[in-house]
Amino acid sequence: MTEAIDRSLLRPHAEQAYASELSALARTDDRPRPPSWRLSPWAVVTYLLGGVLTDGTTITPKYVGPRRLVEVAVATLATDRALLLLGVPGTAKTWVSEHLSAAISGASTLLVQGTSGTPEEAIRYGWNYARLLAEGPTDGALVPSPVLTAMREGRIARIEELTRIPADVQDALITILSEKTLPIPELATEVQATKGFNVIATANDRDRGVNELSSALRRRFNTVVLPLPATEEEEVAIVTRRVEQLGSALELPPVPAVAEEIRRVVSVFRELRSGATTDGRTKLKSPSGTLSTAEAISVITSGLALSAHFGDGVLRAADIAAGIVGSVIKDPVADSVVWNEYLEAVVRERADWADFYRACREVSG
Ligand SMILES: Nc1ncnc2c1ncn2[C@@H]1O[C@H](COP(=O)(O)OP(=O)(O)O)[C@@H](O)[C@H]1O
Ligand SMILES: [Mg+2]
Repeated sequence: MTEAIDRSLLRPHAEQAYASELSALARTDDRPRPPSWRLSPWAVVTYLLGGVLTDGTTITPKYVGPRRLVEVAVATLATDRALLLLGVPGTAKTWVSEHLSAAISGASTLLVQGTSGTPEEAIRYGWNYARLLAEGPTDGALVPSPVLTAMREGRIARIEELTRIPADVQDALITILSEKTLPIPELATEVQATKGFNVIATANDRDRGVNELSSALRRRFNTVVLPLPATEEEEVAIVTRRVEQLGSALELPPVPAVAEEIRRVVSVFRELRSGATTDGRTKLKSPSGTLSTAEAISVITSGLALSAHFGDGVLRAADIAAGIVGSVIKDPVADSVVWNEYLEAVVRERADWADFYRACREVSG
């Protein structure tokens, strides 16, 4: 059977946290698997979206969203094209990329974090300088990047925030993705990718224009755009599930009656994001922040911690007010105006939101 998860870890990797689901899937999966894949594409989709297996094992949903989109993402990875997950912040790009690589290659850790300072070594290889000086360029002195390791082992490499990486560094990927090889001139050799190798990159919609993907690179990727949750129900379900998981991972004392507050946070976020109240009657201005699902999750989780440690053990409006105001007001001038209008025109008018109005007024001053 699978090894138990180390409970002292602050955040186990997907392949650790869901080891038993992954092994149940591998056991019951009788569909064809692409070379080196741990599971068939069908089983990978089931791992992401959840389901019940023939042996009765329940697979929990990791991603909530259109099935077709996940199918396209998984099918892409079985071809010679790489996968680019695109979307606004908080649409689960990182999360989906982690789970896809865990399900496909059993490891989500071959990861390059893209920043404006990401060097070419992070994508190709570097050198252990002590050994390089002592031995000259040898195999042993070479420090492989996560991408090079993935090529050798036939696994998925993940590149986070691809468009934040300077264009000339991004271009190191072109040969890797088109020729499936990485030349190492210093050793007069090359590493040819093993079957099963592919790349999942994520990029933020709002970063567009920071470092555009070159068209040469864009052609190597299939792009899948992850949407914001379509309905309030869906978003409430996502937040509820993640808050439960996070609460138990952080071993927060259990705090009951969160459903109502989750719904309230989600509807505030959705109304401000869309620029209109749920009933469509009042037009609103949208604040500068993204008010993503991920932020809703963190507002509730912080609220739970406040309530558990400093409140009466029940999640109250006062426990979430500070978090909400912090998420909405990113630009202290413009967003304060937006928020105050919303408070006065919408929140104040809702009879059953009186506690929330008071709590927000207290924080907003
Ligand atoms: N559609 C969704 N289904 C499941 N979880 C979601 C969804 N949207 C957001 N989340 C949650 O939001 C959190 C943040 O997502 P993340 O992957 O960091 O976003 P991104 O990389 O797009 O900025 C994750 O914990 C994830 O569980
Ligand atoms: Mg991300």
